[in-house]
Formats: sequence, C-alpha cells, structure tokens
Amino acid sequence: YPFWAQAAYENPREPTGRIVCANCHLAAKPTELEVPQSVKPDTVFKAVVKIPYEQGAQQVLGDGSKGPLNVGAVMVLPEGFTLAPQDRLSEELQEETKGVYIQPYAEDKQNILIVGPLAGDDHQEIVFPILSPNPAADKSVNYGKYSIHAGGNRGRGQVYPTGEKSNNNIFTASTAGVISEISASDAGGYQVAIQTAAGETVTESIPAGPELLVSQGQSVAEGDALTSNPNVGGFGQHDTEIVLQNPTRVLFLIVFFIGIMLSQTMLVLKKKQIEKVQAAEMNF
Ligand code: HEM
Repeated sequence: YPFWAQAAYENPREPTGRIVCANCHLAAKPTELEVPQSVKPDTVFKAVVKIPYEQGAQQVLGDGSKGPLNVGAVMVLPEGFTLAPQDRLSEELQEETKGVYIQPYAEDKQNILIVGPLAGDDHQEIVFPILSPNPAADKSVNYGKYSIHAGGNRGRGQVYPTGEKSNNNIFTASTAGVISEISASDAGGYQVAIQTAAGETVTESIPAGPELLVSQGQSVAEGDALTSNPNVGGFGQHDTEIVLQNPTRVLFLIVFFIGIMLSQTMLVLKKKQIEKVQAAEMNF
C-alpha cells in the first residue's frame, strides 16, 4: 500500500531511480504516464497514470479466496509543482478526479503525490490535477526541462513491511528430498513435509491461496515450485520530461519569426524593383 511506502521510506524514489513500491510488489507490469510536453507557470494541467490490466481479473486475497484488484500510484514531480487546489480545477477536471483522494507524500514533500488503494476496475486511469510553479513569484524555481516519474501498481504485493511473504506468491521447496506428508492446516493452506536424503524432515507452510502442485511421494529439488504462482498483478514505472515554459520567451520567438518573414519579403520586393530599373535603363 502507498502508506507502507510512506512509513518506511523518506523518499519513494531511490538514488538509483527506482520507485520503492517495487521492493514489495515484485512482479513487473507496464504503467504509463502522460503529461503535456510543456506547461506555462502558475497553470493547472493534468498528468494521467495508466495502470492497465484485464478488466474484471481476479486475484488471491489474504484469506485465500478470490477477489477484484485494487490500484495505487505515486508521482514524483519536479520541485515546486504541487497538487492543484480544488478551487482551481475546471469542471471537467473536477469530474475526472471525483472520489479520488490524492495526497502529498509528506508535509515537506508537496511535489510527491500518492493515491490508492482504489477499486481497480474503475481506475485503470488515474488523473492527477497539477499546479505548475511560477518562477516570477518563487525564486527557487527556474524555467527549464525537468524529469517527472510515476509508479503504478495493480494487485497485492508479495512482501509485508515485516518482511514476511504474502500468500500472493509462489512457494518453493527450501531443500531437496521426497515429500513425505501433506496435511491441510486449520486456517486453510497446507503443511508439506519434505524428507531429505539425510533423513531430516523439513516442513513448509503454505497459506491458503496458491494452488498446490505436488503430491505425496514426489521427489523435489531445492527451489522447485510447490505451488502455482497466483499473482496476476504487478508494479510498473514510467519516467518522462516536462518543460516549464516562459511565455515571454515564446512571444519573443514569434516576434522574431515575423521579423524574419518581413525582412525576407522586403528583400524580394527590393530585388524586383532593381530589376525594373535595370530593364528601364536598357531601353535608352
Ligand atoms: C497491497 C499499492 C508500496 C506491500 C497494495 C495495494 C495497492 C498497493 C493498490 C492493494 C492491492 C489490492 O488489494 O489489489 C502500492 C503502491 C506502493 C506500495 C503504489 C508505493 C507507493 C508497498 C510497499 C510494500 C507493499 C513498500 C511492502 C513494505 C503490499 C502488500 C500488499 C499490498 C503485502 C497486500 C496486502 C494484503 O492484502 O494483504 N499495494 N504499494 N506495498 N502492498 Fe503495496
């Protein structure tokens, strides 16, 4: 969950550039981030995170039963960019962000936003309303090109903050041997006893959820799968860039283009005039 990232990591983006959700959501699945190529200062725009998966897909829940997937996302914006205040959203944006509670990652990290868990089937696209900073008002911000990072996740993770494996995992044999006994646990799931060549018995606990693939009497190697992999979700990250554009610079560029166009036209007209004079002189 995004709040587990908040609790465990001061910054959700590691120095390597990896977003920390991936530490517990081990499976990789694509996530997309769409932002405008450039934005003007002090302007509200939208950044869209797309977390696609097969609509209506089911996953293993904590108690071993099946249920729908939830989604969540984190967005690391350039310094100075923040969540747009409600009163600056257009009607269209208000509609698109209805019921989606986006929060800053921390009090002192207003440029990092998190959201989720949200019902996945309704939120495969999450719209973040963003307010760009104004370098004229805030001297710590400059015009220029900046990177922007988003992480999006669908489905349950594989590791809990305690380090324990969730049941949304494949379970493997920790040792080679022969499966001597399989018994059902009270809480659902199984106890699989593996007898090693040395005669020791190692018991693997398998929680309710993943499907058992082995049977009694079967011999297994270390690392062999005892269960299927029930996970259908995964985490993905998309990094892109955005330009904080100075509107006067664009204006100057346009004035410059018009100037060039005018002077080129003038040169052609001048040439035509000289040609006329030359033609007239030849008639004398
Ligand atoms: C569940 C997102 C970080 C471990 C979830 C769910 C979402 C989510 C949306 C619910 C999935 C569902 O019900 O279908 C995220 C995002 C993260 C993040 C966006 C980063 C900002 C983490 C971290 C850990 C973690 C750092 C481990 C410390 C888990 C586990 C579950 C889960 C174990 C399953 C919980 C359960 O149902 O028993 N996460 N997560 N997540 N997350 Fe994360």
